[in-house]
Amino acid sequence: MSAVLAPEAPVLDEDPFSDANIADPYPLFARMREMAPVVFVAPHNYYSVVRHVEAGIVATDYARFSTAGGVGMSDIRKPGAWRPRSPITEVDPPDHTRVRAALQKVLSPLVVKTWKDKFAARAEEVADEVVAKGRVDGVADISEAFVLDVFPSVLGVDVPPERIKLTGELNFNQIGPNNARTAAAMERAAPIMDWYTKVLGREYMLPGGFGEAIYKAEDSGDFDKGTAPLHVRSFFRAGVDTTMAGIGSTLKLLAENPDQFALVKANPALLKGAFEEALRLESPAQIMFRVTVGEVELGGVRLRADTKVGYQIGAANRDPRQWTDPDRFDVTRQTTGVHRSFGVGAHVCIGQMIARLEAESILGAVIRRVRAIEPAGPSSWRPVNTLRTLDTLPLRLVA
Ligand code: HEM
Repeated sequence: MSAVLAPEAPVLDEDPFSDANIADPYPLFARMREMAPVVFVAPHNYYSVVRHVEAGIVATDYARFSTAGGVGMSDIRKPGAWRPRSPITEVDPPDHTRVRAALQKVLSPLVVKTWKDKFAARAEEVADEVVAKGRVDGVADISEAFVLDVFPSVLGVDVPPERIKLTGELNFNQIGPNNARTAAAMERAAPIMDWYTKVLGREYMLPGGFGEAIYKAEDSGDFDKGTAPLHVRSFFRAGVDTTMAGIGSTLKLLAENPDQFALVKANPALLKGAFEEALRLESPAQIMFRVTVGEVELGGVRLRADTKVGYQIGAANRDPRQWTDPDRFDVTRQTTGVHRSFGVGAHVCIGQMIARLEAESILGAVIRRVRAIEPAGPSSWRPVNTLRTLDTLPLRLVA
C-alpha cells in the first residue's frame, strides 16, 4: 500500500474509560468531535472515530478497517488473546457473507414472527405486576424481568438471570481496555466460567429454540464444523444486555420528558420512534473496534497500519453535523437506519428486529396501562467499559 500523506491524528492524553467519563461520556465526546474526525487515544493506543460520517466508514469499509483483529480493543491475533474468534463478528467478507446468510436463515422474519405471542404474553404479565405496584425499578422490575425471561427462552437455553448479568458485564468490559473494571468483572464471573463454556453446548439446548436450530444448521453444512457453540455464544453475548439497556433508557427518557410521553400515549405508533431515539441518545453498545489494514487515510488524517480503530457509536449519535439539537429526546425524529446504534455495513446488527419486537412488546404493554411515568428518585448508570446501561431507575407508574 502506498504511503498516505495526510497529517497524523491529534493525540488525546485523557482516558475515555475513567470513572468520570464512563459516568458521563458526552462532554469528552463533544471535545473529541471538535478536535478532528479521528483522535488517537494515547492511554490505550487506539484511534477513536467520533463523528457520524467517519464512524459509518469504519463500520462499512472492511477492506481498510478489518474485524480480523477482533471487535474489541485488544487484538485477538496477538499472543495472550483470551478467547477464540467469533465466527460471525470477527470475520470479514467474503467469508462473513456465507456465515451471515446461514444465520439469517435461522433468524428469518418468519421465525421471529412466531415469537410475537410469547413476547406479548410475558409483557402483559410484567406490565400487570408493575402497574399494580406503582413504584418500581425500571431496570429490575421491567427491562430485566422481561428480557431475561423471553430472550433465553427463544434462544432455548436455561440460564439463571444472575449468571446472564455476570457474563454480560464481563463481555462488555472486555470489549474495552483491560482495566480495573474488567479485572473486577473477571473476578466476579470466575466461579461460573467453567459452567459458561459448557452451557452453550448442544446437549444444553432446549428443543425448539434458535440455539438448537444453529446446531442443526451446522449438521447440514451451513456453518463450519465446531462453530455452532461460538455462534450461540455470540447471540447470547450480543442480544441480552444491549436490549435491556435500550428498554431501560427509553423508560428513563420518557419519564424525564412528559411532553414526549404524551405524544407516544396519544399516538402509540410513535413508540417505535421513542425506542430508536433512546438508542441514539444513550447508545447501548458505545464502541466497536476494527484494525487498520495498511496505513489509511480517514477524514483527512493518517492512521498507522495494524492499529486498533474504535468507531465511537455514542459520540457519532450526538454529532451536531448529523443531528439538529442532538442532545434533545424527540420521539418524532427520523433516526432508524441513520443512527449508528445497530452498527452499519456487513456486520449491522442481525438481531435488531428482535430487539425492536421485545422493546415494543414490553414498553407498549406498560404505556397502555398508565397515564404517566414519573421519576421517583435519582437513577444511576452501571459502570461498564463499553455498555451504556442503567443500574437503577426508580419510577412511579400512574395508572
Ligand atoms: C438494542 C439492542 C441491540 C443493540 C444496540 C445492538 C448493537 C449491535 C451493534 C452495534 C452491532 C455491530 C457490531 C460491529 O459493527 O462490530 C451488532 C451486531 C450483532 N448483533 Fe446486535 N444489538 C442489539 C440486539 C441484538 C439482539 C437481540 C441480537 C440477537 C438476537 C443481536 C445479535 C447480534 C449479532 C450476532 C451481531 C453480529 C452480526 C455480524 O457480525 O454480522 N443483537 N449489534
